[in-house]
Amino acid sequence: EMQGKCPFGGDRIGGAVGSPPTLSDWYPNRLKVELLHQNGPQANPLGEDFDYKAAFETLDLDAVKQDIKVFLTTSVAWWPSDYGNYGPQMIRMAWHAAGTYRIADGRGGAGEALQRFAPINSWWDNGNTDKSRRLIWPIKQKYGSALSWGDLMVLTGNCALEIMGFPTYGYAGGRQDAWEADNATYWGPEIWDPNDVSSFDSMVTRDKRWRGQNGDADYDLENPLAASHQALIYVNPEGPYANGDPMGSARDIRTTFTRMAMNDEETVALIAGGHAFGKSHGMVSADQVGPPPEIAPMEAMGLGWHNPKGTGFAQYTMTNGIEGSWTPNPTQWDNAYLENLFKFEWVQTKSPAGASQWTPADPDAPKTPDAHLPGQMHGLMMMTSDIALKVDPDYRKVCEKFLNDFDAFTLAFSKAWYKLTHRDMGPKERYLGPEVKLENDLLWQDPIPPRDHDLIDDGDVAALKRDILATGLSVSDLAFTAFSAASTYRDSDKRGGANGGRLALAPQKDWSINRRTVPVVTALQQVADAFNERQVGKRVSLADLIVLGGCAAVERALADGGHPATVPFTPGRVDTRQDLTDIEMFTWLKPVVDGFRNYVADNYAPITSGRVSPEELFLDKAYLLSLTAPEWVALVGGLRALGANHDGSKHGIFTDRVGVLSNDFFVSLTSVDLEWRKTDPKGMTFELVDRASGAAKFTATRCDLVFGSNAQLRSVAEVYAGSDGEARFAKDFVKVWDKVMMLDRYDVRS
Ligand code: HEM
Repeated sequence: EMQGKCPFGGDRIGGAVGSPPTLSDWYPNRLKVELLHQNGPQANPLGEDFDYKAAFETLDLDAVKQDIKVFLTTSVAWWPSDYGNYGPQMIRMAWHAAGTYRIADGRGGAGEALQRFAPINSWWDNGNTDKSRRLIWPIKQKYGSALSWGDLMVLTGNCALEIMGFPTYGYAGGRQDAWEADNATYWGPEIWDPNDVSSFDSMVTRDKRWRGQNGDADYDLENPLAASHQALIYVNPEGPYANGDPMGSARDIRTTFTRMAMNDEETVALIAGGHAFGKSHGMVSADQVGPPPEIAPMEAMGLGWHNPKGTGFAQYTMTNGIEGSWTPNPTQWDNAYLENLFKFEWVQTKSPAGASQWTPADPDAPKTPDAHLPGQMHGLMMMTSDIALKVDPDYRKVCEKFLNDFDAFTLAFSKAWYKLTHRDMGPKERYLGPEVKLENDLLWQDPIPPRDHDLIDDGDVAALKRDILATGLSVSDLAFTAFSAASTYRDSDKRGGANGGRLALAPQKDWSINRRTVPVVTALQQVADAFNERQVGKRVSLADLIVLGGCAAVERALADGGHPATVPFTPGRVDTRQDLTDIEMFTWLKPVVDGFRNYVADNYAPITSGRVSPEELFLDKAYLLSLTAPEWVALVGGLRALGANHDGSKHGIFTDRVGVLSNDFFVSLTSVDLEWRKTDPKGMTFELVDRASGAAKFTATRCDLVFGSNAQLRSVAEVYAGSDGEARFAKDFVKVWDKVMMLDRYDVRS
């Protein structure tokens, strides 16, 4: 009788939190404001008071390294090491941890140990890095919270290089782990069913991130991506779409490594250096391995890619599908990779798993030992992406230089490895431990010279604020300038910010969005010069004075609004120099959309074509400033009250008291007496009309109205628009203002 009577697809007594359809299934294009709160303090088991720096500094780093080095040469039965040495697989783990970094938005990198979480833990390219991380768990367990996963993974990579005879350039700790998957980073548009192994074919079919065909003049990769395919770290080792074409592979390598901020020399050093070690694994075809870690069966306990053949490891290992090693001695730093690459003709062949790879045409070429079976020897192997270094004329030049100068190669690889693994850590103040290289010699660290003068005191601060206001610079101009300096900061790779005074240097001084700051910077420089001339041993930097100008402006606006308060100011910024500023790398910090200053780049195709909205990129900017939703809302309301639009336009300035810190922005935004209408067909700009009189009152952009139209942002705007909202708003604005001014101050914050 019960048959055919199954009214419920499944009871969910207790709720089953997060069962689909979720909000994102219903409304995939909604603005995901809640992303601002991901990886919040609630997710962190160490608690907000945990001081990682202090904990790390209790470690005896030499002893930790000694433990790691012993582990590296002690094979365990559940995943035996190749050649009796876990070094190569650990180098790959560390490289893949760091190699997700991309310069365009500073996301990725080893910093938060996101290799532990989806999607990265389950990327095809991260095959068997789950084993590498599990193998070093006993070391992580021994040192507990004093050694983060992020720091341990990079340190293990360094130890691996060292035991194989490679001199590392340095090591810094200081990476603080994330505690949940990162749902905010855009890794590209392609998606497939991770359960369906045949969908690995999507690596060999055209994906959506490329424009044009490999070889075309306009061939390019979608920004901010830095990998040629979804779920890979960089390029397909078998060439674009596994076509086996070394020249095409070289083009993809150049595009993707450039997106990682590596030049040709660094790229060759990294690939040729890395592939001096270890081997590739391809004993079983891809469709035989089990699901990746994120969806593996419970009893696999977070390990994926179950390999059913033989023991499933050692001589049966299947990782990427290519099989073999590049050199005759894969656990020793030597120049055999480049020597053999150039000495031999390489011919295409297939691995046992069916992947295309290369082997020397010369039958007398050196052989390499089996990683597990004593006495067995194999031919050498190159991937299409290795042959690429030989066929591309520019890479070839670098190879030839390194081939003839092993010391130059060694130094280039050690510096490139240091950059690769530390690139996303930001200012050197964040670096911890005895192996930190302190010299200011690496341009990618955005150096700021050490302070060589005394700091201004409270009396000087008060006097300087008076001097600044006496110049006649407006509250709007001063606030705009301070915000322009500070808001280049991005929390992803901790670059940018007001410190260094780079607003006065190329490229920032030349950005159209910063045009309004130019006369302000000139006037502030005069104030600084006049002050500094009167001092002995004491100076105020331009960087400090720009921020102080903002403080003076906000204080004036607060007082004029009836909410007098002191805006915190922490001196200590130092001005850097043009020759310490990598113009190309700073150009990546130039915003396309900066809703805070009501800026949308002209004719930016993704926006004009409707593929991305200004408010999405505005959310991204708020995210990179590490703002919460309430902070974002308060900051914008204040900047509008202060009149801080980049071009001095009236958009979003819903007040006739510009320069006064009022909550007028929120009152108009939430008013039922007013009606908004688009003023262009695409709905990029709007005007506000009084329902009663029909009179146009104000104008706005999407980066203004989103605070009234989006439900979550509106809920915050309503708080500030309330009759009791203005004092709260004034207080919150000062707090977030100071937060933004201090984001890059790793010299004084932890
Ligand atoms: C192994 C591809 C760059 C270090 C491998 C494997 C592939 C690969 C397919 C075999 C994985 C396996 O089956 O176990 C590539 C490609 C690169 C690249 C396409 C860029 C074009 C690098 C870089 C480094 C590196 C920059 C380090 C600086 C290693 C090491 C191994 C390895 C040490 C051996 C791992 C082991 O023995 O288990 N690479 N790689 N690779 N790669 Fe790369």
